[in-house]
Amino acid sequence: MSIYILSIESSCDDTSAAIIKDGEVLSNVVSVQTAHAEYGGVVPELASREHQMHIIPVVDAALKKAEISTSDLSAIAFTRGPGLLGSLIVGVTFAKSMALSLDIPLIDVHHMHAHVLAHFSELPHPKFPFLCLTVSGGHTQIIRVGDPLNMSILGQTLDDAAGEAFDKTGKMLGLPYPAGPQIDKLAKLGEHKFQFPVPEMKELNFSFSGLKTSILYFLRDQMKKDPDFIKNEVNNICTSVQNTIIESLMRKVIKASVDTGITEIAIAGGVSANSGLRDRLIAESESRGWNYHIPSFEFCRDNAGMIGTAGYYKYLKGEFCGQDITAEPRMVF
Ligand code: KG4
Ligand code: ZN
Repeated sequence: MSIYILSIESSCDDTSAAIIKDGEVLSNVVSVQTAHAEYGGVVPELASREHQMHIIPVVDAALKKAEISTSDLSAIAFTRGPGLLGSLIVGVTFAKSMALSLDIPLIDVHHMHAHVLAHFSELPHPKFPFLCLTVSGGHTQIIRVGDPLNMSILGQTLDDAAGEAFDKTGKMLGLPYPAGPQIDKLAKLGEHKFQFPVPEMKELNFSFSGLKTSILYFLRDQMKKDPDFIKNEVNNICTSVQNTIIESLMRKVIKASVDTGITEIAIAGGVSANSGLRDRLIAESESRGWNYHIPSFEFCRDNAGMIGTAGYYKYLKGEFCGQDITAEPRMVF
């Protein structure tokens, strides 16, 4: 008999539901909240309200797209954390209520485990063990993945995440939130004209707050000399900043590969959609003999498909949770 899992993702500002059949993603519906753009960042209360509005239509759409009904479901998987409390509560409470009413098991999923396991939402799957650079709006980590339920953090950011570095730079340039995709687009039109210090941290850790400050001072000084500086140089600024972030990320990925001897290398999370990072990973893989893995855009960003994939592996091991489970905004890895 087939295993059908309904999965729910509501950790930040995207409401998503997916149906996974025996590990294969049948549907993966994402409702993107646009209400935050005018505030320059995610407004937590607004995000919870939007999740409440969208969760039922999104689940309904996922079931319809997969052409199944609730009576076919074997289990419900949901993001327990980390994330925004008010956003998580909507998904957790919905999943608990639905599992209770259908009398089926509940599976809690760690959002960052799921970003890594997004590589198993589609083919080909990476071989174990592999290294995964997970780069999102809230996290920057290098993970060693031994098997789907066995992962450890080798290094991570000590302050801002890579996605935050993109978004905060975008804010300084007057670009709408989230600025990552926009910087990616403009960077293609520019040149690496300006030099910023590449953040250097010990071991396999990252830091992006110093870079943010040096960009802020650089822009302030240039604007004093020429008030049209940002307008005239925006493409070159985007290329220079993007390359600096990528250089900092890739130096640590190279070190992690040398230290561990692992040459199966993956990237995951929202920033793995960045075309400069993708190109650089491919180039390094070609020169170093790595086997690289880049998720499709659908599985880079926050989506319930990856939550269902992670849930499927927990289902196979019988790792279920009770109805007393609560959202965990600071869930440990
Ligand atoms: O994984 P994600 O969708 O949500 C979190 O869990 O945070 O990642 C969102 C982050 C944002 O900071 C966004 O600006 C960044 O991913 N992002 C990008 C690109 N697409 C999304 N950053 C750089 N280049 C992109 N193409
Ligand atoms: Zn995420």
